[in-house]
Amino acid sequence: MPPPVIPDLLLADGTSIPQIGFGTYKIDNDHVVAAIDAAVALGYRAIDTAAFYKNETGVGDGIRLASAPRSDLYITTKVWTTELGATKSRASVMASLDRLGLDHVDLLLIHWPAPKLDLYVETWKTFIELQAEGKTTSIGVSNFTEEHLSRIIDDTGVAPVVNQVELHPWEPQTALRKFHAAHGIATTAWSPLARNQVLSEPVIVRLASEYEVSPAQIVLRWHLQLGNIVIPKSTHVERIAQNIDLFGFELDDAAMAAIATLENGHRTGNHPNDRN
Ligand code: A2P
Repeated sequence: MPPPVIPDLLLADGTSIPQIGFGTYKIDNDHVVAAIDAAVALGYRAIDTAAFYKNETGVGDGIRLASAPRSDLYITTKVWTTELGATKSRASVMASLDRLGLDHVDLLLIHWPAPKLDLYVETWKTFIELQAEGKTTSIGVSNFTEEHLSRIIDDTGVAPVVNQVELHPWEPQTALRKFHAAHGIATTAWSPLARNQVLSEPVIVRLASEYEVSPAQIVLRWHLQLGNIVIPKSTHVERIAQNIDLFGFELDDAAMAAIATLENGHRTGNHPNDRN
């Protein structure tokens, strides 16, 4: 069977992004090369990394080893909170490109707003310059609330094309997704499986049995039907394959409503305002 073709989502800057990407958080340099090689062979085209993950060297090696040319791949990296501000963020991006062995990435994100430092607007202005210089095709943010988004939009007139936030059935970010839709911002879900903890929810287990797919496939299909971009992480080839095999079934309204009942506000990571 040929690998699944992952649909692209159109972004507000006229470019497009694969709706499913391969997440690499917590995969170290030694393991990420083989993981990317396997993911690309299985049909993934987008790879999500970050300076903070300390695996960009391996991600770069994986990209060069992979069976698809660089021009077919979509690479995202991020600037960590200790590197915010004009000079440091520019240096951070140059160092990331150097480690990745790339002349540009497809998407560059501010990893966390770190509002107490009050440097995210200045960093956003630098991102606008880096995009004009061709160091990145698109610019976006991660872990931004409505307040942080409004501030960068009001101060620069430039909206991020993506906000990557923790999002899964426990924390579906309903209000933020509405705000995104009103401002042309695509939503990427990090920890789309809530670090796999949501997979044992009885509702998810029941739906997996009904649809004859795995619990992870139920949750990832729910994301796709909400219009989210997802970046599931796995180091197991069978799971890497499973996590893009989402196009042979569709959740009906009752299934979507059943998953909506799982909302309880539980996060697996920090609240955006709590990390500096
Ligand atoms: P592993 O890497 O051992 O496969 P998230 O992307 O929400 O952070 O979740 C990642 C976690 O979920 C990892 O612990 C990963 O484990 C696990 N995981 C990823 N895909 C699947 C899957 N299809 N079924 C079960 N667990 C999965």
